[in-house]
Amino acid sequence: MAGENKKVCVTGAGGFAASWVVKLLLSQDYLVHGTVRQPGDSKYDHLNSLEKASENLKLIKADLLDYDSLCSAISGCSGVFHVASPVPTTEVTNPEAEVVEPAVKGTLNVLKACLENKVKRVVVVSSVAAVVMNPNWPKDKVKDESCWSDPEYIKTTSLESMKTSKKWYYIAKTQAESEALEFGKRTGLEVVTVCPSAILGPLLQSTLNSSTLLLPMGLKGGFGSFGYNYWTVVDVRDLAEALLMVYKKSDAGERYMCTSHAIGVEEVVEKYLKISYPNYNYSDKLSHTEEEEEKLSSEKLQKLGWSYRPLEETLIDSIECCRKMGVLD
Ligand SMILES: NC(=O)c1ccc[n+]([C@@H]2O[C@H](COP(=O)([O-])OP(=O)(O)OC[C@H]3O[C@@H](n4cnc5c(N)ncnc54)[C@H](OP(=O)(O)O)[C@@H]3O)[C@@H](O)[C@H]2O)c1
Repeated sequence: MAGENKKVCVTGAGGFAASWVVKLLLSQDYLVHGTVRQPGDSKYDHLNSLEKASENLKLIKADLLDYDSLCSAISGCSGVFHVASPVPTTEVTNPEAEVVEPAVKGTLNVLKACLENKVKRVVVVSSVAAVVMNPNWPKDKVKDESCWSDPEYIKTTSLESMKTSKKWYYIAKTQAESEALEFGKRTGLEVVTVCPSAILGPLLQSTLNSSTLLLPMGLKGGFGSFGYNYWTVVDVRDLAEALLMVYKKSDAGERYMCTSHAIGVEEVVEKYLKISYPNYNYSDKLSHTEEEEEKLSSEKLQKLGWSYRPLEETLIDSIECCRKMGVLD
């Protein structure tokens, strides 16, 4: 993006992944408009403490379902990182209103605001949730960007893992991403999507989110009744790098998978956790089934120049961060 104006907007700036995106952008001298829903709330203090935040970060109140607020936040920006989305940590009572609408209509609102404000490029954060639930994909074939989750299948499957609010999250992410790419094709707005697997790594903010809950929960409970037996993981810092890389280097209309490691829970425990953290009570009955395995490829992103850190570093940095936050006491 030669000659770009370096003012960009990050939606949901206070979230886990978005905070790292803001940090990375500030470190590269971007002027950042970060959208938040409750400006002034102490949950965004970490953003104001980032290096160069006092000069180059402006937090602006916006909700994904409030088009005018998005327009104000996006005005004057040449790029947008659309990261905000509800990621439920507990069961929700009205999934259509609480999960699907903000994800799908919210994404379209962001894109329309981008078009109205002559934004050049939008990077939309999707998820492997929009990739993996495809019953027609050959069992042994690696899932890449051409694989799409099927919302009808997600709605009707008897899979245990889809009996919770997670089901609506999967539907929402699939629909939001496909409508975003469609919007780009229809209007000429440069839309690029990125589908991360489970995001781990250290937090900048002071509260856990849905994915950073997993390690402390597992360590406290021995990982036995965990229900998450096969992990596909990307480090939040590597994800932030990926988002900026596709912003700068991708062609428009592209979709990228963003995942680094795929590993069974028993191997996570034996190979990494028991060695660095031997004093927890790990269950000795950990395993995963072949059915639970996901073969995912980020080759396309790697071809752009993306690389990722070792899993050990992600696990240790995540756990050390949780220790400092006091959530492992
Ligand atoms: N965490 C993962 O493992 C994972 C994996 C794959 C993909 N993703 C995707 O990555 C992105 C970031 O996830 P995360 O884990 O960093 O999430 P997070 O920490 O829960 O942050 C989500 C952000 O979305 C904002 N948000 C939610 N509803 C909103 C609304 N109606 N209007 C405006 N903002 C709203 C929240 O804003 P407030 O601060 O105002 O509440 C929050 O900042 C999401 O798109 C998610 O789907 C996450």
